[in-house]
Amino acid sequence: MSKKLEALRGMEDLLPGEIEKWQWMERNARIFFESRGYKEIRTPVLEYTDLFVRSVGEASDIVHKEMFSFEDRGGRNVTLRPEMTASVARSVIEKGLLTQAKSWRFYYMGPMFRAERPQAGRKRQFHQIGTELLNESGTAADLEAVALLHDFLRFLGLRQFRFRVNDLGSAEDQKTTSSRLREYFSDCKEKLCKDCQWRLEKNVLRIFDCKSDFCRPVIDGAPWDKIAPLSPEFETLSRAMQERGIPSEIQRRLVRGLDYYNGVVFEAVSEALGAQDALAGGGRYDRLYSDLGGPAVPCVGFSLGVERLLTVLDKELGEAFWNREIKQKTIYLAPLDPDPAVTELARKAALLLCAAGFKIETSIREISLSKHLKKANQHGVRFVLLLGPDEARKDRYTVKDMSEKKQTEVDANQLVSYLEGVSAR
Ligand code: HAM
Repeated sequence: MSKKLEALRGMEDLLPGEIEKWQWMERNARIFFESRGYKEIRTPVLEYTDLFVRSVGEASDIVHKEMFSFEDRGGRNVTLRPEMTASVARSVIEKGLLTQAKSWRFYYMGPMFRAERPQAGRKRQFHQIGTELLNESGTAADLEAVALLHDFLRFLGLRQFRFRVNDLGSAEDQKTTSSRLREYFSDCKEKLCKDCQWRLEKNVLRIFDCKSDFCRPVIDGAPWDKIAPLSPEFETLSRAMQERGIPSEIQRRLVRGLDYYNGVVFEAVSEALGAQDALAGGGRYDRLYSDLGGPAVPCVGFSLGVERLLTVLDKELGEAFWNREIKQKTIYLAPLDPDPAVTELARKAALLLCAAGFKIETSIREISLSKHLKKANQHGVRFVLLLGPDEARKDRYTVKDMSEKKQTEVDANQLVSYLEGVSAR
């Protein structure tokens, strides 16, 4: 008997019933980021492995343990992207985009791949929405990135989240910071796990990514404030965040698991998520472009995990939120007669509503009112347009509100504004 076909562990299908939430999220991300002057960028999911080794870093868990890498048919080492900051950098350098404009604001969305042990909030194929602000430095740029993330979460309707922040020191200071940290950890090497002893050789900052309890006391005891005191720029940013009402707490252990950061790093976290509490993470990275063979380009950016965002929206705002955002924006068309004038009225309504951003459900096979209403109920739709010969003659629609159990006659030219008004309630 042949083996049953199934999806790979940690990789999920997105099916009707769930996909509407994803479409809602992607639509809102586009509206929001475009309104802030960010342009979409799409890069391939497959890149040369070398790109991630040189950017995310050889000693990072992502490169060391979690990449889906393989040889392609031509014997080239390729990897399914584990994140997109490196791909954006590769594309900008390759296409010379910084010769076209002094700075760029990009946003992106799509699947990423990390071979982690699957659990709640941790998948092997997961999705990110992210932004990168290129060739801008200083507190204003850092604040733009943090405030953009904060405002996007608020725009989606979330209220219960906080920021964790840290200062990794300037790109120039990082060599000194690393050598001081190396001194500290070398003195207590035997209190580190095997992996961390390896990290000590490769990149000492990566010790802070260790999840083993064995290393925790040594990691918690690292004298960060002596080794790398918070910079005046970071203090200015913290104050600016406070003035903007962006709640944050400094966590000196936060190093963010990817090698390219310097300066400010941050995460937006939600208690609703449990152990994997990071909704989003990001920070400043000023060395990445030159490390990849491009010019020196100071940047700051972040990525949000879409699965985790949807979990938090579900928990914080619940079914009523999705009903308002999705089900009330779907209109069921019920043609009650085979008369061509009725079909034409339905076609006109579909065009009008579609242009206004509504989704349509219908059944062209039915003409019985009760069967139409049953179908509308199955789709969980609140508003049904009743279309009969009477409506076609008068060029009017009868709107049935399934939840309030009432009917209203609306002129064709007022249909959209009427439905926009009632569906927002
Ligand atoms: P990251 O912290 O590795 O950063 O990932 C960002 C977000 O992706 C996390 O906060 C989390 O919500 C989500 N995420 C990560 N791994 C998984 C997983 N296995 N399953 C589900 N969700 C996951 C980056 O990727 C950087 N590129 C962010 C950045 C952009 N920095 C500067 N620009």
